[in-house]
Amino acid sequence: MSRQNLLPRTAPFGDGERASLDAVLGTATPVQRAWLAGFLAGLDAAGGQPAVAPAAPPKAAEPLTIVYASESGNSEALAGNVAKLARKQGFKPKVVDFSDLDVSTLPKAGKLVAIAATWGEGEPPARAVRAYGELMGEGAPRLDGVQFAVLALGDTSYAEFCATGKALDARFEALGGRRAAERADLDLDFEKPAADWIKATLKALAPAEAADNVVAVDFARAAAGEDDEAEPSREPLVVEVVEHVNLNSSRSDKETIHLALAFEDGAPAYEPGDSLEIFPENDPQLVDEILNAAGLADDAALRKTLLAERDITTLSPATIERFVKATGHTEAQKLIDSGEARAWIEGRHLIDLLETYPAALTAEHLGTITRPLPPRAYSIASSRKEVGDEVHLAIVAVRYETHGRARSGVASVHVADRIRDGAKLRVRLKPNRHFRLPQDPATDIIMVGPGTGVAPFRAFVQERRAVEAPGRSWLFFGDRHFTHDFLYQLEWQEALEDGALTKIDVAFSRDQPEKIYVQDRITQHAAELVSWLDGGAHFYVCGDAKNMAKDVRVALVKAYETSKGLSAADAEAQVAALERSHRYQQDVY
Ligand SMILES: Cc1cc2nc3c(=O)[nH]c(=O)nc-3n(C[C@H](O)[C@H](O)[C@H](O)COP(=O)(O)OP(=O)(O)OC[C@H]3O[C@@H](n4cnc5c(N)ncnc54)[C@H](O)[C@@H]3O)c2cc1C
Ligand SMILES: Cc1cc2nc3c(=O)[nH]c(=O)nc-3n(C[C@H](O)[C@H](O)[C@H](O)COP(=O)(O)O)c2cc1C
Repeated sequence: MSRQNLLPRTAPFGDGERASLDAVLGTATPVQRAWLAGFLAGLDAAGGQPAVAPAAPPKAAEPLTIVYASESGNSEALAGNVAKLARKQGFKPKVVDFSDLDVSTLPKAGKLVAIAATWGEGEPPARAVRAYGELMGEGAPRLDGVQFAVLALGDTSYAEFCATGKALDARFEALGGRRAAERADLDLDFEKPAADWIKATLKALAPAEAADNVVAVDFARAAAGEDDEAEPSREPLVVEVVEHVNLNSSRSDKETIHLALAFEDGAPAYEPGDSLEIFPENDPQLVDEILNAAGLADDAALRKTLLAERDITTLSPATIERFVKATGHTEAQKLIDSGEARAWIEGRHLIDLLETYPAALTAEHLGTITRPLPPRAYSIASSRKEVGDEVHLAIVAVRYETHGRARSGVASVHVADRIRDGAKLRVRLKPNRHFRLPQDPATDIIMVGPGTGVAPFRAFVQERRAVEAPGRSWLFFGDRHFTHDFLYQLEWQEALEDGALTKIDVAFSRDQPEKIYVQDRITQHAAELVSWLDGGAHFYVCGDAKNMAKDVRVALVKAYETSKGLSAADAEAQVAALERSHRYQQDVY
């Protein structure tokens, strides 16, 4: 094949050079071009020196298995980053979700990187539970000869910080694996330390001769441009609040804000099931209390930083340790030494520490004691097909009292109390490809979403209406009182009328003496629900992770037992099969 003038006139070469390159490239085979692309990429990586003789036969890439246990996508994204860098460094990476992991294959992994988040109260992410259980169980295979490294994601505000990653790291070693790199336990500001860990770990896992001399490239992918895929921007976007409505009645003891956000330059390409992260601001009154307690009331620059950038509520053992290191406070040191710190921080915030253990602090001290203010995720409650360049959210204000002090959730109360129509917010899309409508719109769906758990199902119903999905849709909703807390009640009625929703079953827990929850409605409709599932329906759960999601799963197992006369074990196997085939999906928090 003869292809002339491949290089554009704008290419940074003289006319003669362009002609020479065209002469070579125009007749090169795809394999030759791929080789050249890889060679040039490798040459750049090695600072312009060919680190392997171009004529040498390419070395077989080193297999690397990367497993991830993820709920909200952070570990999954990092697993992708490991794979990308590993490929550039001559590995042949394979990325495996824990939900698809066949534990018996691990002994053959050779080199293994695990990235694991912790959820609930020190538990593995829901999709990882099966494989995690198998790994921890007696039947787990030996991992002799496997080199491994674990990256643990978590949140220092939880008592069981990074428990899943810690347990995996210990388990791999107990099964005979060899730790190639020390585990890192990362907090919510994990991006930079994770990137550093990945770099160092791949170096540690690389074959000895390649570790200092990494130029091998997956030529085919490099040539296909796959390593240069444009990453979606992680920078927050500024949006305008165009609707701010309390969905609860004025007599409710809850306050759920329906927020409509408009994107000036077009909404990001979100799908029903995705979330939107809000970058909140702290309560100005709390900022002032902290500045006063620290003796820094006059520092206007620090006030601004504390308002928008630092986490000034979370109190963890690590916060106390950093406080003691910064101040040398002997009484606070005693709290750590006594082993009581974990119990003491329960229900307390940074302000309690500063007021109980007064110390003159500097702005730098507060900088080292606090961590960056993390964004909060909210399920998107709209479909672009219905709302265009808007995103809708439903946010319940978190307010409670502990140790005699009224406390407010940072983001939810920022939205409820200090944001109104016309205000600006910084947001970022958080996609979730594990919480998706069925590809075939003829497939039935069952949605269980009490409280704000209903938010993504508003998006699902809008989407199914827009595409005129022929599949049936069944919603289970619950809250406290029918009269005060029936979120989006009129919209569900309209959807029932226009056919976007086929059925709704509601459970209002406090409208009668005995508590009734969505799981009770599932039990009540067990036979019909199981018949929908037998017909191929997908089952979705969103909302409270601590109790509701677990109780719903138990109720579904029971529904199989009672409606089909199955044993508990066989009913459990039915639900597990739904999970494995991704027909049971949950987005819980
Ligand atoms: C994927 C995902 C989707 C989500 N979708 C939604 C949604 O659609 N709508 C929604 O409202 N939320 C949603 N959330 C939850 C949301 O991200 C926030 O966690 C929530 O709004 C609280 O954030 P905050 O900043 O207001 O509170 P924070 O300042 O983070 O405080 C919350 C913390 O306060 C403490 N606390 C709360 N209540 C009490 C109490 N009674 N007693 C003692 N301590 C208490 C707990 O430690 C809790 O973790 C979602 C979360 C995830 C991960
Ligand atoms: C409801 C909930 C429970 C969590 N529980 C814990 C926990 O017990 N321990 C911990 O270290 N981190 C906990 N985290 C923090 C997550 O591990 C952290 O956000 C992590 O980055 C999530 O990674 P993923 O997106 O891969 O799931 C929890 C987060 C949420 C929202």
